[in-house]
Amino acid sequence: MPQGGLLTLRGQNIDLDEATAARHLAAKPGPYVVLSVEDSGTGIDPALIHRIFDPFFTTKAVGQGTGLGLSAVVGIVQRHQGFVEVDSELGRGSCFRVFLPATPQAIALPVAQLDRLAGHQELILVVDDEAAIRELLQSTLEYYDYRVITAENGAEAVSLVAQRGAELNGLIMDLMMPVLNGHAAMARIRQLQPQLYGVAMTGLHSPEAIAQARASGFRSILAKPFTTEALLHIFYGAACGRSDGQSCLVGTVA
Ligand SMILES: Nc1ncnc2c1ncn2[C@@H]1O[C@H](COP(=O)(O)OP(=O)(O)OP(=O)(O)O)[C@@H](O)[C@H]1O
Ligand SMILES: [Mg+2]
Repeated sequence: MPQGGLLTLRGQNIDLDEATAARHLAAKPGPYVVLSVEDSGTGIDPALIHRIFDPFFTTKAVGQGTGLGLSAVVGIVQRHQGFVEVDSELGRGSCFRVFLPATPQAIALPVAQLDRLAGHQELILVVDDEAAIRELLQSTLEYYDYRVITAENGAEAVSLVAQRGAELNGLIMDLMMPVLNGHAAMARIRQLQPQLYGVAMTGLHSPEAIAQARASGFRSILAKPFTTEALLHIFYGAACGRSDGQSCLVGTVA
């Protein structure tokens, strides 16, 4: 909608009929959830519409689009046994509908299973030179009831520990960073706060890399890429000083 317009998002429960199911390879008649995105934009030329889901097909100028948007959407939807339909009229707009098979049974959300691994307002220092990773770790830990402060490199982490070390319950740090890397930073942090629970994040999980992280003073190592569950597990109990893997609420830990 280069000139602006109306974007309408809808969610609907439907019962897919035989005729619609027959139009799509993987579709079966029955209950589906339909998510639709309708715009009042340029619309799509009927001569091109059969190509829009192809990888790298784009009508945008070089550098403006990859042509991967819709093919990625279709890939994701197909992995969920769904399909995508589109209606479009040149000059009037388009409507994309994502069909996902629905199940009548209630499904326990994985989030509910992770809740038992949540923190209790413990303060964690997150150290990574990549802003996207800092933000992801911060929002995940805060969602699970931790408090978070962040640093962009080892030197900043050392100075934060010097200022707020006594308040901190744990830290999680990338190993490869500019200014001061994770190993050197952890060695200095250990002099300031010998008891502070430090987790190293690393893409290298050779026995040598693990031994080196331990030698620098890290008590745990989290191999990248990791899940939210692995992240919560590594702080579970440990953040409040327990080493027996028990919840911080269990027992008499202050
Ligand atoms: N809502 C829409 N209205 C008009 N044309 C569309 C719409 N969505 C997709 N198209 C057409 O389909 C083409 C392919 O879309 P797709 O999302 O795959 O790639 P892109 O949008 O060009 O690039 P990117 O997703 O990287 O921004 C677009 O270039 C455009 O021509
Ligand atoms: Mg796109």
